[in-house]
Amino acid sequence: MAKVLVTGGAGFIGSRLVRRLVSESHQVKVIDNLVLGREAHLEGVNCEFVRGDLRNLATVEDVMRGQNVVFHLAANSDISQGAARSDVDLENGTVATWNVLEAMRRCGVRDIVFASTSAVYGEAAVKPTPEGYGPLLPISFYGASKLACEALISAFAHNCGMRGLVFRFANVVGRPATHGAIYDFTKRLMAEPTKLSVLGNGTQKKSYLHVEDCVDAMMFGWRSILAQAPAGSAEIFNLASEGVTQVRDIAECVVDEVAKALSAAGRARIEFGEGDRGWVGDVPFTWLDGSKLLALGWRPAFNSGDAVRRAVREVVEDFVSTPRKGG
Ligand SMILES: NC(=O)c1ccc[n+]([C@@H]2O[C@H](COP(=O)([O-])OP(=O)(O)OC[C@H]3O[C@@H](n4cnc5c(N)ncnc54)[C@H](O)[C@@H]3O)[C@@H](O)[C@H]2O)c1
Repeated sequence: MAKVLVTGGAGFIGSRLVRRLVSESHQVKVIDNLVLGREAHLEGVNCEFVRGDLRNLATVEDVMRGQNVVFHLAANSDISQGAARSDVDLENGTVATWNVLEAMRRCGVRDIVFASTSAVYGEAAVKPTPEGYGPLLPISFYGASKLACEALISAFAHNCGMRGLVFRFANVVGRPATHGAIYDFTKRLMAEPTKLSVLGNGTQKKSYLHVEDCVDAMMFGWRSILAQAPAGSAEIFNLASEGVTQVRDIAECVVDEVAKALSAAGRARIEFGEGDRGWVGDVPFTWLDGSKLLALGWRPAFNSGDAVRRAVREVVEDFVSTPRKGG
């Protein structure tokens, strides 16, 4: 049994991770400011919840004392926000991560698992993109912040004898979604079941990973990689399933599932926008090479297409059964 701090534990991925940790009898503490997360995601879960902001070092130091490991997932997950406000990712990503690492140093906590992203690669020329690809030139403030966080983890690890494990996630899908294409499409179709407007021309292609696989890989990484790592080391792994999926196919899948769920007579019309970017800073084609992690024995249960189809069913089901939970 370990004492585990999960930052962002009331969020989409964080709450699923907390449930898994608790089910394996770990003593879990969550810190989340609930700006994007919801306390309801942890309803009935045997963990300690602290409503607090990682931008405040004293608060972070307070929750850090006595922990064995930190799963650091808190961040601004809305990439498009950066285009309007260039300090959102700096504060909730880079500064927050420095606070987490500094609090770890002060409290003698050694191990950190970090949720990074494919966005650090920017528009990579090599696909599928391996961890060693460079130079890393992110095109969003979100990606830039995550890359800075990775660098801070490496520097703290080497200067303070910590151990860091960084996962660069593909697009993670499933329940309880609160953002992302599947969630947005479903929400819009529930409000207006005859038509769906899609940002961009639908040709954007990305690797998708089901949240169950994401959580499973983090647990595998903690047990099988971080626990064996020497002090003063940081290692990076892409976290993706096999294949890529087009936004156009996601839209079709959501339209079909919503029509089925509402027993609608016809299908909604899909209207695509222009260009191959959903928003400024969107990378139209991401495809991660996940072979480094696979070589260590981890296997995802779902490929990209299956992850999307399963997630669409889950998200639509949540909207239909409890519209407030879904929406
Ligand atoms: N969902 C994906 O597809 C995806 C892909 C790549 C990386 N990631 C990363 O995985 C992590 C979890 O993502 P998610 O999709 O669950 O997002 P999420 O928004 O559901 O979870 C993030 C949580 O962090 C909290 N938070 C944000 N700023 C905070 C602060 N200053 N102090 C305390 N709490 C704060 C939010 O309230 C939220 O509950 C994030 O770091 C995200 O960047 C997610």
